[in-house]
Amino acid sequence: MKKSRRPLKVLVLLHPELMPPDSIKGYSEKEIHVWKTEYDVVSTLRSRGHDVRALGLKDELKPIREAIEGDWKPDIVFNLLEEFHGDVMYDQNVVSYLELLRLPYTGCNPRGLMLARGKALSKKLAAYHRIPVPDFTVFSIGRRVRRPPRLAFPLIVKSLSQDASLGIAQASLVDNDEKLAERVIFIHEKIGTDAIAEQFIDGREIYVGVLGSERLRVLPVWELEFGDLPAGSSRIATTRVKHDPDYQERHRITQGPAEGLTPELTTRIQRLAKRICRTLELDGYARIDFRLSADNVPYFIEANPNPEIARIEEFAQAALHDGIRYPALLERMLWLGIRRARAKTGE
Ligand SMILES: Nc1ncnc2c1ncn2[C@@H]1O[C@H](COP(=O)(O)OP(=O)(O)O)[C@@H](O)[C@H]1O
Ligand SMILES: [Mg+2]
Repeated sequence: MKKSRRPLKVLVLLHPELMPPDSIKGYSEKEIHVWKTEYDVVSTLRSRGHDVRALGLKDELKPIREAIEGDWKPDIVFNLLEEFHGDVMYDQNVVSYLELLRLPYTGCNPRGLMLARGKALSKKLAAYHRIPVPDFTVFSIGRRVRRPPRLAFPLIVKSLSQDASLGIAQASLVDNDEKLAERVIFIHEKIGTDAIAEQFIDGREIYVGVLGSERLRVLPVWELEFGDLPAGSSRIATTRVKHDPDYQERHRITQGPAEGLTPELTTRIQRLAKRICRTLELDGYARIDFRLSADNVPYFIEANPNPEIARIEEFAQAALHDGIRYPALLERMLWLGIRRARAKTGE
């Protein structure tokens, strides 16, 4: 690893309900799971000698201003905030505010957050650059559900703008117009957003982490393996598959380096991940999700700027596999943020 860097004053922005305790002693695994990312980041940065303060932010920007106007001026914000006013679409606005305050921050810039947010917009941009994407159509709230004839079943119906598998269940996979209409209405009414229906790519679930700004470092190709899902279940990353440790254990859902890919295919997937980052103007750190079809076409499913970075989750595990230990990973994220701010102000 490169020279050890000076300690920084780091203001960690997070959701107030995810404020981590100083120690995990006495908490159950389930409890820890909820705020593990926040805990991992705060405790690891502290153990590296940084001066860390965590700030819970929900629907007020004033605390940020107060934090920078006091005696303790942060060198950088570590941005773990994923929503504001309870709305995930506002993540970009908070980052814009940090930019206006000329406060360096980790993770993605607001333009990248916006371009990646829309599951249709990001695919349109990718398709222009000849990146393979599933065929899709958007069903807006209040419009009749009419499937364009070119779009063939099976389809998967999702929220156009929500993430974390919200609204993704076995019922998301539909094979006729009646079920399609039902699920689209479910997204409109229960999730409260427009819906997107995509060609279902039956294949392997592949994740690729990317780290950097101008120069991008791509992490090893990672795979979520569905193990032995209950009979009749399709292999999709539902909320339970992604976020329920008991369910994962019961059905042997695991993650790890994707095995058996040829070097050419590995390189192709990694290059695609970088091109998607450039196309969507992502920086900091991101995870690009693909489905690899049976004939080895990596279809772009979703770009996740500021993905989950808990120590045990895909991004940090893939980095570790590539020789970047967790403290060093967080350190890189900090310095990427500082360097981006310096480049901007010309300091
Ligand atoms: N077009 C598709 N073909 C096959 N599986 C898909 C497709 N789109 C989504 N999925 C499955 O659903 C999961 C969640 O979809 P995604 O678009 O990543 O939404 P989220 O933002 O909720 O993570 C994916 O990880 C994948 O397992
Ligand atoms: Mg996803």
